[in-house]
Amino acid sequence: MRLDKYLSDLGIGTRKEIKKLINSGLVTVDGETVYKADFKVSESSCITLDGETLVYSQYQYFLLNKPRGYLCTKDGAPNVLELVPDNYKDLNPVGRLDKDTEGLLIITNDGQLTHRLISPKYHIDKKYYFECDNPLPENAAELLAQPIDFSDFTSLPGILEPVNETSGYLTIQEGKYHQVKRMIGYLGSTVTYLKRTEYAFLNIEDLAVGEYRELTAEEINGLKGETENE
Ligand code: URA
Repeated sequence: MRLDKYLSDLGIGTRKEIKKLINSGLVTVDGETVYKADFKVSESSCITLDGETLVYSQYQYFLLNKPRGYLCTKDGAPNVLELVPDNYKDLNPVGRLDKDTEGLLIITNDGQLTHRLISPKYHIDKKYYFECDNPLPENAAELLAQPIDFSDFTSLPGILEPVNETSGYLTIQEGKYHQVKRMIGYLGSTVTYLKRTEYAFLNIEDLAVGEYRELTAEEINGLKGETENE
């Protein structure tokens, strides 16, 4: 790939800024200062910027604890993308959480992985903590363990773990519009607070609301593994 693409993938700057850095002699490739933006490099080239050795990665993967009030849609403010570094191209949330939902959100520019993670083909567990206004019926767990026929889709069985009469955890494998709210609505209650606590093997116990961290290589590989078997 071209040297300027390598640097751009790492979020070093705009093409113009990168050209300036290269022209100023701040970039070396395998020990030699390089002045050409289209100089050919590979992932294994040893590249330094201002004396610092760079480690290449084509994509970025962030785990965010989304606060209430932030939107996951492309346009609309405040937006979840404001909460992660803004120097990378094409970052997008994996699926959506409602504006008033908190919790675990993956943000990445790996379009292929995003596509696979949101595909209904792979049944990835998503666990939500909810609070609701009316007490849950005694047979709530049985009711949600059956497919429910909504007007636009029939839900796969969900696993309900009540905490008390008006709160609990619901694990589902889909991500239909307002799905948790609608499943709790089916029980005759309205969700008053919703937080996604787990996505596959990931949780956000180490992140305060509004905080993010990068996923580790092991976690990224784990997510890819989740989309291997249908
Ligand atoms: N289900 C909902 O109802 N809302 C969300 O944000 C996520 C799942």
